[in-house]
Parts: sequence; C-alpha cells; structure tokens
Amino acid sequence: MRAIDHNTITDATIDQMATTPNPRLKQIMESLVKHLHNWGREIDITPEEWLEGIKFLTAVGHKSDQYRQEFILLSDTLGFSSLVNTLYDRRANEKGTQTSLLGPFYRQDSPKMELGASIVTKPSKGMEVVIYGRVLDAAGKGIPNASVEIWQPDETGNYDLQLHDPSEMDLRGHFHCNAEGKYWMRTVAPLGYMIPMDGPVGDMIRAQKRHGFRPAHIHFLIGAPGYRELATALYLSGDEHIDSDTVFGSAGSLVVDVNHKDPNSPIPNLPAIHFDFQIVKAAAAESGRVGADPSQIVKAGA
Ligand SMILES: [Fe+2]
Repeated sequence: MRAIDHNTITDATIDQMATTPNPRLKQIMESLVKHLHNWGREIDITPEEWLEGIKFLTAVGHKSDQYRQEFILLSDTLGFSSLVNTLYDRRANEKGTQTSLLGPFYRQDSPKMELGASIVTKPSKGMEVVIYGRVLDAAGKGIPNASVEIWQPDETGNYDLQLHDPSEMDLRGHFHCNAEGKYWMRTVAPLGYMIPMDGPVGDMIRAQKRHGFRPAHIHFLIGAPGYRELATALYLSGDEHIDSDTVFGSAGSLVVDVNHKDPNSPIPNLPAIHFDFQIVKAAAAESGRVGADPSQIVKAGA
C-alpha cells in the first residue's frame, strides 16, 4: 500500500478514478482533482477554512430554488461564467456578436409578441424607448424569422421575479424577425442594479469590499435554425459601473447609446436603441446559454 502524504494523495485519487468510461468526464474530473489539490497545497488550507468552504457551498445550495440560482450568481461573480462565454465564442467558425451573461433571471416561455409590441405590462415611470435592428448572418445578410427573446430589469433596477408573484411576467417578450431579419419592440430604459445581496454570494461580495453593481443592461437570446444560439446583452453607455461590472458581462462591443433623435427608427417619436446582432452557422445544435431558467435546474436536479 502506498503512503499517503500531501503530494501522493493527488495521484492516488486520480488512479482510483481511472476506471471512468466516459473520456470527457474522466478528463474533467482528473483536471479538477489536480487543480483542487494544488489550490489546497498552495494556500496550506486549514480544517477550519475547509469547513467554512463547506458551509458556504451548503448555503449557496439552500439559497437556490426554482426562482433563485445562487450557484449561477457565484459563477458570475467569480468571473467563471464570463470565461465560459469567451471560450464558447472562441470555438465559433465565424465571427458574430460577442456573448454575454444569460444571468440568473432568464425564464423560458416568455410571452410571444408581435413586432413593435411593448414588453411593459405593469405601470411604469420609466423612459419609453424603442429597440430595433436586424439579426444578420456572418456575411451581413438578414435572417428571416430569427427568434429574439428579450428580458430586463425595470427603471428601478428590479426584475419581475424580484417584485411580483413569479406567475406574473413583466419586461420579457419573445419576438420573431420579419422577412428581412428586422426586429423592433418597445420597452423602458432599465436601471443598473446591485446583484442579490441577501445570500452567501452577497456575504462574499461584502467581505471583498466590492460594490456589487451591474451596469444598466438588456438581455437577449437570439437564435435561428442552423445557427449557434447567441446569449448576449446590450449595455447602456454612460452607466457609472460600465467598467466595473460585478459579474464581468459588459464589453465595449455591446455598449449602446439611447438616441433621442433617430430618423431611421421604426417609431421615430421615441428615443431609440439600435443594434444589429450577428449569429454564426452551427455544425450541430449547441446551446450558448451560460445560465438557465432556475426552475429547469431544480427540475433536472430533482
Ligand atoms: Fe441582468
């Protein structure tokens, strides 16, 4: 029997897992053990610290349910979701719009809406705006009937899930482009917000003296048959946290202006946000979602 010490424990663990038939699972777990053990050795972890970590992850799980996903928030605030996004973009064969976080507030089955409709269903004091543009392929050609899902916080920086009964959806909509790949819809300009701070991730953010804010943004999930799914967001220029997003989602190529006089807008009397999304061909169906409707995660784990 081999002696187990602080170094040999790593190979002993990997040797025992060598029977894993799935090669990708084997690779993932071997690498995880290597990095986890190296991290423990590097910081010379103590039993008290190990237990703190177990308590923290337990609290993250307890805080998660069908409407709240604390693990996604943890991944987001550790920069890991953004890393997964950039790796996803890097694997594409063509260049399209940059991916951004799906975040913890995405919900499937948002209401189907006609082009030009407003996604605002509750009384709002926000500044009404039109968002319009096209969904293009990598060559710049419009994609007819492309699917455009939109969701966002309101003018106070809150999502519907944070304000209303979860059965009532607000500021969400599912549109389909016209024959030229054009989309347009009405909404209100969102405010930036502090990520949910009432859980263990909030405790972590406070312990690190981070501000916890996200710049104002509007989420999109764009797709069409034969194309890679695009999960992204548009960030409003001028927000004070645009360069210090707590979850590392904002990027220069996704920053948009609110134009108060846009002659090209399909609804010219409203301030306008214009953005053309580009999606790229996919060899096989591949999800671009770093995140999920929390209820689907609970279902899958049940
Ligand atoms: Fe968000």
